[in-house]
Amino acid sequence: MFILNSNDSVPLYRQLYIQLREHVLSGKLPADARLPSVRDMAVELSTSRNTVEGAYQELFAEGYIYSKPRSGYFVSALDQDAAQLSLVHKPRNPRSNVEIPTNYMYDFHPARLDQTSFPVPLWRKLYMESLRESSRQLVQYCNPQGELELRCAIQLYLERSRGVVCDPDQVVICAGLQNSLDIVAHMLKGTHSIVAVENPGYHLPRSVFRNHSFEIVHVPVGVSGLDLDALKSSGSNIAYVTPSHQLPMGCVMPIANRLTLIEWAESSGKLIIEDDYDSELRYHGKPIPSLQGLRPSGNIIYLGTFSKILSPALRVSYLVLPHSLLATYRRVFQDYFATVSLLEQKTLTKFMEQGHWDRHIRRMRTIYKKKHDTLLLAVEHHFGSQAVVVGQGAGLHVVLQMTGNIPGETEIIERALGKGIRLLPLSDFYVTGEPDSTKLLLGFGAITASEIEQGIALLSNVCF
Ligand SMILES: Cc1ncc(COP(=O)(O)O)c(C=O)c1O
Repeated sequence: MFILNSNDSVPLYRQLYIQLREHVLSGKLPADARLPSVRDMAVELSTSRNTVEGAYQELFAEGYIYSKPRSGYFVSALDQDAAQLSLVHKPRNPRSNVEIPTNYMYDFHPARLDQTSFPVPLWRKLYMESLRESSRQLVQYCNPQGELELRCAIQLYLERSRGVVCDPDQVVICAGLQNSLDIVAHMLKGTHSIVAVENPGYHLPRSVFRNHSFEIVHVPVGVSGLDLDALKSSGSNIAYVTPSHQLPMGCVMPIANRLTLIEWAESSGKLIIEDDYDSELRYHGKPIPSLQGLRPSGNIIYLGTFSKILSPALRVSYLVLPHSLLATYRRVFQDYFATVSLLEQKTLTKFMEQGHWDRHIRRMRTIYKKKHDTLLLAVEHHFGSQAVVVGQGAGLHVVLQMTGNIPGETEIIERALGKGIRLLPLSDFYVTGEPDSTKLLLGFGAITASEIEQGIALLSNVCF
């Protein structure tokens, strides 16, 4: 029996999603049980079909249910022991403790943001206010872990939007992913030695951990993200993952795999580093909730950044450490100073506390969804049946999978450059294994919608 309350601030579809999810995790809805049709459920709950459809689509996107053509939705098989533990949430206490720029006509770089998106006048105003209010604090060093107000704002945002369950005490303000991983590496050096990274995957974690003398194991990525069997046999005791939007393939790790990964970490003190770098940007349904929120007391280090929504030049990111690492963090970093300027922290705090951050995310989602949809249409129009888009529906990039007689990646990139098109090689993300030369990486953050259409038309000419 599901109860929807129209006076609740939580949207109806979300209420239904939460209740269904709890039934799946608790086993009340067993594996392979068929869910009522959208129509029947809507009639039973006296609600609209859109409400039910919204809840089902979200459960489907996260892997709690699967669909069979013409039969409806069914409950996915989950490890019940692991699933039950995900329902137990720890009580919280919210207030406790170079690149040279080059001009391309069509820039498909995956790590560039919309060129007019940074809120300059507002940032200037908040920055000036922060400057006026901070004169006493500017003559001394600031909190090494990050200003408490900013950590509180981040904690509230993460709880509301990413399902992360933590205290501000667990949040550490960092100057980007490299700084976050440096901190993690310093903390784990004595106790952990082998890091599993995704292949294909982001190069930076490999470099950081290698510089700290960790052994790096490259674990293949399939349609469900990191290959967990390969992880288990890899001998690693740390796994770096991008479960909500794998970089670069764009897949979402389904709930069953998330629970298995959590179980893997909990056996003999292993650790997961969850990099949740761009999950604000999902263009259908709600963002996929974090892995950390499934097991707040687990061995999960959660990483987030302001680089994808606000600005990669600000250099502000954050770590959420598990309670088990807090004492180590304080011991190892007791003599370190903050890495992010006080004024940027104060400005960002105001930005978040006054509701600008939430509005900015909504605005960015609209801008990037338009570019994303334009890209899909342009590919359909100019490549037709000769290409499909992989990893769509989120973030700032997709992968183009081509068929037919295609020149290699290097040749396509060179030919494209001749037409003013900039592409980043997908093969750069592979360390081992044969990169698939029929795939291209297409970022759409910086390029405008009209440039996307022209750029894809030109690209289709150089690919065949
Ligand atoms: C996988 C991944 N994680 C994190 C980041 C963000 O890094 P930073 O916070 O250093 O800008 C990026 C940026 O491109 C990324 O691709």
